[in-house]
Amino acid sequence: MAKATSFTAVILISSIFLAPYFSISEAHSYAPIVSGLSLSFYKSSCPKVESIIRKQLKKVFKDDIGQAAGLLRLHFHDCFVQGCDASVLLDGSASGPSEQDAPPNLTLRAKAFEIINDLRDLVDEECGRVVSCADIVAIAARDSVCLSGGPDYDVPLGRRDGLTFATTNVTLENLPSPSSDASTILASLATKNFDPTDVVALSGGHTIGLSHCPSFTDRLYPTQDPTMDKTFANNLKGICPTANSTNTTVLDIRSPDKFDNKYYVDLMNRQGLFTSDQDLYTDSRTKDIVTSFAINETLFFEKFVQAMIKMGQLGALTGNSGEIRANCSVRNTDNKSYLVSVVEEEQQEQEEAWSEL
Ligand code: HEM
Ligand SMILES: *[C@@H]1O[C@H](CO)[C@@H](O)[C@H](O)[C@H]1NC(C)=O
Ligand SMILES: *[C@@H]1O[C@H](CO)[C@@H](O)[C@H](O)[C@H]1NC(C)=O
Ligand SMILES: *[C@@H]1O[C@H](CO)[C@@H](O)[C@H](O)[C@H]1NC(C)=O
Ligand SMILES: *[C@@H]1O[C@H](CO)[C@@H](O)[C@H](O)[C@H]1NC(C)=O
Ligand SMILES: *[C@@H]1O[C@H](CO)[C@@H](O)[C@H](O)[C@H]1NC(C)=O
Ligand SMILES: *[C@@H]1O[C@H](CO)[C@@H](O)[C@H](O)[C@H]1NC(C)=O
Ligand SMILES: *[C@@H]1O[C@H](CO)[C@@H](O)[C@H](O)[C@H]1NC(C)=O
Repeated sequence: MAKATSFTAVILISSIFLAPYFSISEAHSYAPIVSGLSLSFYKSSCPKVESIIRKQLKKVFKDDIGQAAGLLRLHFHDCFVQGCDASVLLDGSASGPSEQDAPPNLTLRAKAFEIINDLRDLVDEECGRVVSCADIVAIAARDSVCLSGGPDYDVPLGRRDGLTFATTNVTLENLPSPSSDASTILASLATKNFDPTDVVALSGGHTIGLSHCPSFTDRLYPTQDPTMDKTFANNLKGICPTANSTNTTVLDIRSPDKFDNKYYVDLMNRQGLFTSDQDLYTDSRTKDIVTSFAINETLFFEKFVQAMIKMGQLGALTGNSGEIRANCSVRNTDNKSYLVSVVEEEQQEQEEAWSEL
């Protein structure tokens, strides 16, 4: 109880100090910002970085709004595995651009990697190599939410790019499976300091985007999950005639491309796609939170922003750790001897950063 009280105090204090940085129209209360990151990090070195990214993504989404979901998920995978260090973008990463053996539940859109590298080039043209790939991913995720109809918010910046990619094992350990129940998801995310409200809010990322059949067909075959709405299940069986079908379907049947609170309405109607979604409406610790978001979108947006800012700072490398990659898919080749010595330091600092959050 004492812990919860002091955490609330941290939010209040930091929002008093940070108030001048936020635009007046924004009434959200923010999660604390970790040391080394700031809202004005590129103020002098690359003041246009956020406008460049937003302008480019508006163009990209005009052609295909589905890419917004790909970019949002990319940031989630980056942050959950080894911290928000753009390690997910590296060739060789278990969910990276050239990984052929990634399990189906890890499929990130190939196009998301291209979009990030294009943004890298645009930002470099304007400012030189000063903005990290990890920050570009974080800003792109925020813009994906906002340009799909969700809340806008300020992203703490100053992340550095990691030097090592995550192995398949580490990746699988850190990303819960869609067939997990709420207890498993709550326990898994609690290790990263997320409370049940954060868990329900973050799961709301599934208000946009697609899934491949094998991510949820365990709920259809061999026996149908009795908690799933019958008509919904029958429609899914049409889309996925076999458990292995390569087809995809939308995560939020009510408004698949719009970032809104309809995902929670789906759950209340037993039309959540994954067990990890639907069980949030079964578990007594999360059920009322689902209902509160389904009836109050403002509340969902507020909690989502808080949780995203928290997620966006997980294990962030700051200061002189890591590097600013020239090509988001590969480690810099210059300064090899310098980099080798940084690897150990980085691991240490990362552990410290995790324990801070
Ligand atoms: C809580 C645990 C989570 C689980 C178990 C989970 C699982 C999944 C799975 C299995 C897919 C479909 C992959 C496929 O078959 O193609 C997916 C898609 C997606 N997830 Fe999650 N996810 C979780 C959390 C999150 C979070 C925190 C976010 C962002 C805030 C997020 C955003 C997305 C988005 C936007 C998509 C659609 C991607 C696309 O259309 O390319 N997920 N998730
Ligand atoms: C990866 O995990 C599997 C199963 O948990 C284990 O058998 C294997 O030894 C691990 N591999 C590495 C390289 O740690
Ligand atoms: C992904 O699927 C593999 C097998 O296909 C399974 O072993 C693993 O637990 C799943 N992981 C996630 C994160 O869904
Ligand atoms: C893909 O889904 C459609 C319905 O949306 C279905 O008619 C078709 O048989 C499915 N194809 C495969 C290969 O599963
Ligand atoms: C899925 O595909 C594998 C081979 O890729 C096959 O061995 C298995 O029988 C298939 N399972 C189902 C349920 O279709
Ligand atoms: C919805 O949530 C917002 C944000 O917490 C709150 O200010 C508002 O009073 C809530 N609206 C209703 C109708 O409860
Ligand atoms: C970035 O690295 C990837 C992987 O090595 C390579 O295919 C790509 O051409 C590089 N991009 C640029 C702009 O150099
Ligand atoms: C290597 O790093 C040092 C110090 O960070 C820097 O001054 C130098 O320009 C770098 N060398 C190259 C080839 O980028």
